[in-house]
Amino acid sequence: MEPHTDNFKETIHHLINTNGSFNSLSYSFEKNVPHQDIVGALKSMEMSETVVLQKDEKNQIEFLDEGRFILSHGSPNIMLVQLLLKSNPEGKLSKAKALDLFPKEPKNIFDRAFSIAMKLKQITYDKTKDEITASKTADTSVDNVQADLLRFQKDPHPQKQDEQLLKQYSKDKLLKESKIVFWNATKGPNFGETRKAETDLTIELLHNDDWKNSKFKSYNFNAKGKEHNTGALHPLLKVRSQYRQMLLELGFHEMPTSNFVESSFWNFDSLFQPQQHPARDAHDTFFLINPKFSKINDALKDYFNRVKDVHENGGYGSTGWKYNWSAEESCKNLLRTHTTAVSSKILYKMACEYKLTGIFKPAKLFSIDRVFRNESLDKTHLAEFHQIEGVIADRNIGLGHLMGVLEDFFQRFGIKRLRYKPTFNPYTEPSMEVYGFHEKLNKWVEIGNSGIFRPEMLLPMGLPEDVQVIAWGLSLERPTMINYGIENIRELFGHEVKISDTRKSSIYCLLNENV
Ligand code: PHE
Repeated sequence: MEPHTDNFKETIHHLINTNGSFNSLSYSFEKNVPHQDIVGALKSMEMSETVVLQKDEKNQIEFLDEGRFILSHGSPNIMLVQLLLKSNPEGKLSKAKALDLFPKEPKNIFDRAFSIAMKLKQITYDKTKDEITASKTADTSVDNVQADLLRFQKDPHPQKQDEQLLKQYSKDKLLKESKIVFWNATKGPNFGETRKAETDLTIELLHNDDWKNSKFKSYNFNAKGKEHNTGALHPLLKVRSQYRQMLLELGFHEMPTSNFVESSFWNFDSLFQPQQHPARDAHDTFFLINPKFSKINDALKDYFNRVKDVHENGGYGSTGWKYNWSAEESCKNLLRTHTTAVSSKILYKMACEYKLTGIFKPAKLFSIDRVFRNESLDKTHLAEFHQIEGVIADRNIGLGHLMGVLEDFFQRFGIKRLRYKPTFNPYTEPSMEVYGFHEKLNKWVEIGNSGIFRPEMLLPMGLPEDVQVIAWGLSLERPTMINYGIENIRELFGHEVKISDTRKSSIYCLLNENV
């Protein structure tokens, strides 16, 4: 506790003893000491139950620049008249000269003086000669405004009869009224207690049995706790929040991705991925043992059958995959292998809305979340990682738009040059791998995968035939590793990550030119 707090305590104690009570505001005003210092001492005395506090509040007057000027110099208009009268017997001065002789602070004080004096007809102004003349009738012997302000300075807590006056002075920006909370202290149960209250039960107190006669400070449950140096966003989440922010700024809406477990139906079948596809093997995908299967609810049955049909027989201009599609295989639960499972579900929802309303609403969507693959682990691969996915559904869009959007998207992260390589995804046609030129590494690196969703995926959902959906996906880890200069993914993700590094890592500026 600061020494002056103890001094205050002694004084407060003494004053309560002689007067029966103590008012924080009057004391602060009388002795011209900061109110908060007295309140600090009072609060501490309340804790030790030396005093009982009662809260109260009052309006208070605070002087603004011009008010303070008037308090020390008088009203500016009267000053101006006096200046004119002092200069020569006619009480005349050019405006420029008067301005020159007038105080410069606070700003515009001369303009205020001039306009008030004009308004009160204490001066006249000849514009052609730029000359100000003091009026014969101007009386500079009384300064009512200064007198009022001095009175308020003496007692800054306004009385009822001053209401009108204060309103006017507030309007003139001479002062402002504010509320102040203060405390009234009276004797508490421990008043006069000379022993100092203990804050801790120490070994010494226990050893010599002093604790029996000691007074202990009671707990202050309202006190602010000590700030703990805990919690820091993981670097991956820092980068994630940046991508998220950027996509939100571009007008994309976030898709709900909070379920890691998905059915094979949404993860593969709805995406026209055949059931024999190697990715659907347990070597590549984590299947769930319990619950092993998802139930297909009634509302989904029609669409479920249309998906079966397009796999088996094709349609919508496609020959299909020509095999016997298994509903059981489709119901197998898994840890989603990509966030495209979520995109598919959302597109189906949009199709349902279209069916209901006859209106198709174009959409720009994104997600950033975790996916799982049964991969062999090495320094750049883990069995779980994060994907960023973007989806745009609209009429009259195609490959050109996809490339334009990708360029815009990656440019924001400092990747200016892109290259595309044809690839294959069961659910997009055409499909393109995206490569970006990494200035720091001075080489082309694969940064994403993209394409236009196939009609075999969109039309069974029930989306209008003239709607195209362009989409792309990329991992979150890859750009993060490159940006933070991390070579081993285990330093970024998993139990080997150093908490100290997490604390230290700043939010990396992905928009950095050199990325
Ligand atoms: N799902 C793909 C992947 O996991 C990424 C992708 C998304 C590709 C959307 C095309 C369209 O790699």
